[in-house]
Amino acid sequence: MHLGRTTLSKFLIQQLRGGDDERDLAALLVDIAAAVKAISSMTSKGALAGVLGSREATNVQGETQKKLDVLSDQAFINTFQLGGLTAGLASEENDQPMVFEPSPGEVNGRRYLAVFDPLDGSSNIDVNVSVGSIFSIIRAPKGRRVKPEDFLQSGARQLAAGYAIYGPSTMLVLSVGQGTHGFTLDREVGNFILTHRDIQIPTQTSEFAINTSNARFWEPPVLRYVEECQAGRTGPRERDFNMRWIASMVADVHRILMRGGVFMYPRDTKDPSKPGRLRLMYEANPMAMVVEQAGGLAITGRERSLDIAPEAIHQRVPVILGSKEEVDRIARYHQAFDTGTDEQYRSPLFKDRSLFQE
Ligand code: AHG
Ligand code: MN
Ligand code: MN
Repeated sequence: MHLGRTTLSKFLIQQLRGGDDERDLAALLVDIAAAVKAISSMTSKGALAGVLGSREATNVQGETQKKLDVLSDQAFINTFQLGGLTAGLASEENDQPMVFEPSPGEVNGRRYLAVFDPLDGSSNIDVNVSVGSIFSIIRAPKGRRVKPEDFLQSGARQLAAGYAIYGPSTMLVLSVGQGTHGFTLDREVGNFILTHRDIQIPTQTSEFAINTSNARFWEPPVLRYVEECQAGRTGPRERDFNMRWIASMVADVHRILMRGGVFMYPRDTKDPSKPGRLRLMYEANPMAMVVEQAGGLAITGRERSLDIAPEAIHQRVPVILGSKEEVDRIARYHQAFDTGTDEQYRSPLFKDRSLFQE
């Protein structure tokens, strides 16, 4: 029973007390929670709602769209357009950002821009594996119409960011720059209840997440890290590691927030036109804020994700995030490789196949 517990609305009212601006940000996050509830309802009905499967169309990135990609996108667009608080939005599913004019008689200003991945991990939807939504809120320009370049703000300037995970339970995990907090949806009552206050990622870990089918395309520092983990207690790390890969970034990052670990979708040479798989504005940046606010770290390998100056809405970047000490180690491996001071490491697993062999 949730009576007496802290709802999302109460929590936000208590955290965001800094006048009209913060009050509107709290209202916007409550709007996002409403969209999340609608998407949670659709995903939980699965095949019963006739919403599974693909569409004929592809999105701007040439990826096949699932029906639920589009339905979730529409849920967010309606929420932001009708909610009166956002001056514009950008989504994974739409080539160009959308700009909203204030309606006649609208009382509040539209102070914010929303950037989002409406359904993350959508390849998992037809096999009933956890998916999610990711969002990032930044400030809109004052006193003029929004231009596409207004969206290109570094992650460090995010006012709020978070994700919803549609798993066995639906959770909303977010940060407004004062820690990272998790809320669980009580479906019967329709409220998000604060269940995970001030999440802290353990600084060390023995778990890593990476799509190893891409190993032949990785750079040497990433290969070195993974080989050392795989070598376990007989290798230089002197302890055994475990591996997980759900192929929903939201679910993989959620696990890391709960019990530590490292998530990597690193730079690779699979498609030289793409410096990574994941998108900066609506995957890397919001997750980096959530992870750093929980005491973790998010990098590309060579720089802090939140410091990247964005060049395009759908820009892709390498992503390495999670427990601080492990991410620091991977940063050191990149630096050592780039400066030619890399140690030669002979993997007992890979022997003569190791990249670090002469
Ligand atoms: P999306 O469904 O929004 O396109 O994102 C999918 C992403 C991410 O969630 C996940 O980590 C990654 O793609 C999985 O990639 P692989 O299919 O290469 O494992
Ligand atoms: Mn995604
Ligand atoms: Mn998506």
